[in-house]
Amino acid sequence: MNNSGDRTFVMIKPDGVSRGLVGEIVSRIEATGLRVEQMRLERLSQEIVEENYAEHRGKEFFEPTVAYVTSGPVVLMIVTGTGAQAIMRKLMGATNPTDAAPGTIRGDFALDISANVIHGSDSPESAAREIALFFGGREA
Ligand code: TYD
Ligand code: MG
Repeated sequence: MNNSGDRTFVMIKPDGVSRGLVGEIVSRIEATGLRVEQMRLERLSQEIVEENYAEHRGKEFFEPTVAYVTSGPVVLMIVTGTGAQAIMRKLMGATNPTDAAPGTIRGDFALDISANVIHGSDSPESAAREIALFFGGREA
C-alpha cells in the first residue's frame, strides 16, 4: 500500500514562533523525509482554537490553552508523507515536556506543559478534521 499521500496538521505555537524556532522545527520535519505541503503564519481567533481543542472543552486547562494559543502568531502546516501523522507525534514527544524524551521537539525546546512549542494531530481522523478546519477552501 502506498501511503505517501498521508497528511497531518501541525501548528508551531506562539512560544515556538516568538523564540525563533520555526526554521529548526521545519528542518527536523523535512529531515525525516516528510514534506511541508502548505504553510502560513497567522494570529488565530478564539473560535477556531476552541474548535481545534473541542475534545478538551470543560477540562481545567481548556481556557488557559485557548488563551495561550491565541496570544500571538502561530505557524500552520499541512505535513505530507508516509505515516505523517504518527511520525509527527514521535518527533514532537510527550505532551508534558517533563516526560518528553531528549531528541524530541518538546524534550529539547520546552519546559512548560502549556507552552509546549508544537501541536500535531493525534490520529488520522483528527488530521482530516484539523486540515479541513485550518486549510479547508484554501488548498491550492
Ligand atoms: P492534549 O491534546 O492532551 O496534548 P497534545 O498537545 O500532546 O495532543 O492537550 C492539548 C494541549 O493542552 C497541550 O498541548 C497543552 C495543554 N494541556 C495543558 O496545559 N495541561 C494538561 O494537563 C494537558 C493534558 C494539556
Ligand atoms: Mg491533542
